[in-house]
Amino acid sequence: MRDNSRGGRYTIPSARLYPFQWNWDSCFCALGWAAFDEARAWKELETLFAHQWPGGMVPHIIFHEHHDSYFPGPAVWQVKRDVPTSGITQPPVAASIVRAIYERATDRETAERMARAMIPKLFLNHQWWHGQRDPDGTGLVAVYHPWETGRDNSPEWDAALKTVSKEGIAPYQRRDLDHVQAACRPSHDDYDRYVALVELFRRHDYDQGILYRLTPFKIADAGINFILLRANRDLLRLMDEIKYPDSALRADVAAWIARQEKAAALLWDDGTQSYCSRDLLTGRNIAASTSASFLSFYAGVAKKDEQIRVLERWGGDAEFMVPSLDPADPRFDRKRYWRGPVWVVVNFMIGRGLKEYGCEEQARRVGRDTARLIAEKSFCEYFDPLDGEGLGGNRFSWTAAVWLAWARDYYP
Ligand code: DGY
Repeated sequence: MRDNSRGGRYTIPSARLYPFQWNWDSCFCALGWAAFDEARAWKELETLFAHQWPGGMVPHIIFHEHHDSYFPGPAVWQVKRDVPTSGITQPPVAASIVRAIYERATDRETAERMARAMIPKLFLNHQWWHGQRDPDGTGLVAVYHPWETGRDNSPEWDAALKTVSKEGIAPYQRRDLDHVQAACRPSHDDYDRYVALVELFRRHDYDQGILYRLTPFKIADAGINFILLRANRDLLRLMDEIKYPDSALRADVAAWIARQEKAAALLWDDGTQSYCSRDLLTGRNIAASTSASFLSFYAGVAKKDEQIRVLERWGGDAEFMVPSLDPADPRFDRKRYWRGPVWVVVNFMIGRGLKEYGCEEQARRVGRDTARLIAEKSFCEYFDPLDGEGLGGNRFSWTAAVWLAWARDYYP
């Protein structure tokens, strides 16, 4: 964490592979910092939200300084801000992280002041999600780019991504393959379409109203929707705990929660016995059982018996829980990024959710597997669920943060 800290203000995920500040990485890092340096944890969040766009979006990357070891950099995004950023967002974990840090803080005075200052920014961010990404008030918010889901190459996006034309995109050079084997990263075809979407959004200056109408990739990701539902619950709780005076804000958050709870049912798929993502352009759910399905526990909308049965089956197939895709799915690829490997931040959220549902045994398994992976295989970006091999970037900040904040308690 210290090696990846920059100027005492933000944490890069991993040198060279990801040399800037990433939105959800940074939030998990704050949780890790809080285990040994609370002031640094608050600073991390303060830096992230200093780059929130006026409309409320928190960009997925903040390009604080120049580096050419990453593609696509600021010259591709062309976002005109003093400190350049990307033009899309990432899973909104911030409110949940702020609440967790606030509740555990030993320096109560600073925690009170910082959490109070964060509330309007968090509220504005959630309002952006509900207002811009669900303007019809359906209770399901949309993402427009696989990078927004944080689960870039999940098989859930395959069919929708194929509809994105890659004709005429500017030539580019991937930099991720300078650092990580191609077999562990998204395919070239995926990348072409990622770039095509960025070029489309850039042509429209990232205008959310326009993008809502014309994006060819519009998905209600189960992961994002569950993370946002949980974040709304945590925001509401935080407002209560610090006796936040503005009751109108509280009423809005409560209304979002009610709407989301109802809409979650739309994502349930009987065939896979899982919560799935929904393609909002075809109106159909995408039959794929991924680790995002189990975030229903974290969000408080789990179908406990059905989902525990699925989780137990996965646990029989995998040595290390929780694979990012059902190991029995023919598309399962144990080393390829979000098509099989275990990601410890997802485990952290699933583990917390399982415990809150009283599923002690399953929560312990997820915690213990996470602790073994980190302690025995090191601070890698992600892990092979069958033999535990560490994959992707190394000396990875959020893996260290998850160890500090949670997994170490499960180490035998
Ligand atoms: C990448 O570049 O691999 C990231 O996941 C995009 O945020």
